[in-house]
Amino acid sequence: MNLPPLPDQAVGMIWAQTRDGVIGRAGDMPWNAPEDMAHFKATTMGHPVVMGRRTWQSIPERFRPFAGRTNVVLTRDPEVTAEAEAAGALVFTDLDEALAAATDAPGGELVWIVGGGSLYAAAADRADVAVITVLDLEVTDGDTFAPALPPGFINVASVPAEGFTPSDRGPAYRFETWVAGDDL
Ligand SMILES: NC(=O)c1ccc[n+]([C@@H]2O[C@H](COP(=O)([O-])OP(=O)(O)OC[C@H]3O[C@@H](n4cnc5c(N)ncnc54)[C@H](OP(=O)(O)O)[C@@H]3O)[C@@H](O)[C@H]2O)c1
Repeated sequence: MNLPPLPDQAVGMIWAQTRDGVIGRAGDMPWNAPEDMAHFKATTMGHPVVMGRRTWQSIPERFRPFAGRTNVVLTRDPEVTAEAEAAGALVFTDLDEALAAATDAPGGELVWIVGGGSLYAAAADRADVAVITVLDLEVTDGDTFAPALPPGFINVASVPAEGFTPSDRGPAYRFETWVAGDDL
C-alpha cells in the first residue's frame, strides 16, 4: 500500500476493527477477513513487527513467527519467552527495549506495532501512522478494543472514500490511513 511521507525513523500501528472498534474476542479475532490478512502482510512485509504475548499466542504455530519480518514479542512469562525465542522471535519485557531492538532489525526505519489492545494503548503516543481496516461488522461481545488515536491524528486516506468494499469471502472492508498531525 502507499503510505504518506513519514519521518526517517517511524512507528506504525496496524489493526482491523469492527465499525465500533472491536479488535478481539476471547484471544482471537471474531471474523475471517482474507483481504485484511493480505493487506496486513503486504503492509508489514520487510519490517519488524512488535506484539504482546497474547497476540503471539493467537497466531497459529505454523504461521509464527511471521515470515520476512523480525518478530518482537513482549512478555514476562519465562515459558513463552523460551518458546518464542526457539521459534525465532526476539523477546523483551520492556516496550522501550523492544522498540529499540526492532529499530535495529532489517527494515527498522519503519516498525509496526501489530497488537494487541495493550500494545496499541501503550504505543499510541509514539506512533507516526495508523493503518486501520474497518470491517462492516457489529460484534457485541468483543473484549479487546482499538485505542483512541492521540489528538492531532489526521485521516489522510480512506479506500473506498465512503462506505465499504464488498467481499464475497468475508465482511466488507475499508482501508484507512491516519497520520500524526505533527508529522505533516
Ligand atoms: N484486530 C486486530 O487487528 C488484532 C491485532 C492483534 C491482536 N488482536 C487481538 O487482541 C487480543 C489480544 O490483545 P490483548 O491486549 O489482550 O493482549 P496483547 O497486547 O496481545 O498481549 C498482552 C501481554 O503482552 C505482554 N505485554 C504487554 N505490554 C507489555 C509491556 N509493556 N512490558 C512487558 N510485557 C508486556 C504481557 O504478557 P505477559 O502476561 O506474558 O507478561 C501482556 O499480558 C486478541 O483477541 C487478539 O486476537 C487483534
